[in-house]
Amino acid sequence: MKKRNIQLIILFASLSLAGIILTQLFWMKNVYRLKEEQLDGRTDVALRRIVTELMVTRNDTMMARMMQFGTTCYHEPITLMEVLDIPLLDSLVRAEFSWMEFPRDYAYGIFHRKDGRVIYSPGGAYKEELLHTRNAVSMECLCKSDPCMLGVYIPGRQGMILQQILIWLVLSVLFLLVLAGAIFFSIHSVFQQNRLSQMKTDFVNNMTHEFKTPIATISLASEMLLKSQIHESPEKTKRYASIIFDENLRLKHQVEQVLKVAILDKGEFMLKYIELDVHEVLREVIKNFSLIMKEREGRFRTCMHARQHQLQADRSHFISIIDNLIDNAIKYSPGSPEVTISTANENDGILISVADKGMGISTENQRNIFRRFYRVHTGNIHNIKGFGLGLFYVKTMVEAHGGSVSMSSELNKGSRFDLFFPFDHVKVHPNENEEKKVNHEDTAG
Ligand SMILES: Nc1ncnc2c1ncn2[C@@H]1O[C@H](COP(=O)(O)OP(=O)(O)OP(=O)(O)O)[C@@H](O)[C@H]1O
Ligand SMILES: [Mg+2]
Repeated sequence: MKKRNIQLIILFASLSLAGIILTQLFWMKNVYRLKEEQLDGRTDVALRRIVTELMVTRNDTMMARMMQFGTTCYHEPITLMEVLDIPLLDSLVRAEFSWMEFPRDYAYGIFHRKDGRVIYSPGGAYKEELLHTRNAVSMECLCKSDPCMLGVYIPGRQGMILQQILIWLVLSVLFLLVLAGAIFFSIHSVFQQNRLSQMKTDFVNNMTHEFKTPIATISLASEMLLKSQIHESPEKTKRYASIIFDENLRLKHQVEQVLKVAILDKGEFMLKYIELDVHEVLREVIKNFSLIMKEREGRFRTCMHARQHQLQADRSHFISIIDNLIDNAIKYSPGSPEVTISTANENDGILISVADKGMGISTENQRNIFRRFYRVHTGNIHNIKGFGLGLFYVKTMVEAHGGSVSMSSELNKGSRFDLFFPFDHVKVHPNENEEKKVNHEDTAG
């Protein structure tokens, strides 16, 4: 996918996500307000009902008195408390608010809003808050000359409303997180696919280049052999034949390397376990590199300290693992390579290290070098030949043996690759002693 398209996708996805978050916030705020209005409405209705009930009772008492003592006994009350039946008020409040499933913690009282005086408050708590409560109704109908308010204050009002909408809040946040995660994952996958496709392109370019050189050399050498005069010089004939032979070997080696990784790619390969002497194999591989090392005027150092160096492993893959590491150590050492190979026993296993004093690897590249097709960009990709498959192969194979790979490197100072092979891997899997079919997971994702 083109970079511009990815950028557009990221932009639209981020805008949509921000839009959804804003809409959700808007709706949540609306729900909160609605719930608040609902609670206010229910409280006001209850308070009005209480006042009406108090008024009816007051009128009934008045009527009864008037009937008993005549109209002369009636006189207009001066204060509300004169006509207020407090026990009745308390029981009405309890009845109304229990029926409404009101929160347990609430305070009610009668007060004068104008002069900020609370004239009745059972328990006496939250007096100040009562004076400013939004849930209050007038009691003027009970006593015109003493216009008081009956109010209720709910201390945990906000928390209570939030509790009611908590499930929706949690669900919204959860779904938003899932959506954000899905978007992030998709974008990450697109980036990964893009990088993989770029690496594959590099690989194909590389491979074509690597194959082109031996093919051209073989073609030239065979052309020379076809010339009739060449047969007069057996020495020249031999030289051209040997060039064809060497280049053919090189081609074969390259094809084998690519095929090996193609097998890893398919996800299945067989391991044929045999007991091998690690020190002996290491010496053998070092010997194979002695010619190249001599040509490059480099040297090997060995520190074989492992006392126990017998290991159950697949011999051919084990050789290839070491081969790849030494090949890298020499390839990526400008000038004369200095390669140290050491062994030690650790945690019931054997630790094999291949260290060089070469160009080293930057920290940001260290994370990627075990990925399939990954090569550190040196500006000129064909400067040092390779397919970017060696370390991917090493990691996959060491892990198939139950081991692990770690590395440390410093740019321009050198690199060190540590392989750990546990002795008990095959004991843990007794049925795999002969041949082991491995399911491999692509480290390149
Ligand atoms: N010892 C080392 N010193 C410095 N850089 C290294 C070393 N080993 C590996 N690298 C870096 O890691 C990259 C990946 O190495 P890897 O062995 O997988 O591929 P390659 O050597 O490029 O090709 P191949 O091994 O397939 O022929 C290399 O391109 C190189 O940049
Ligand atoms: Mg390599």
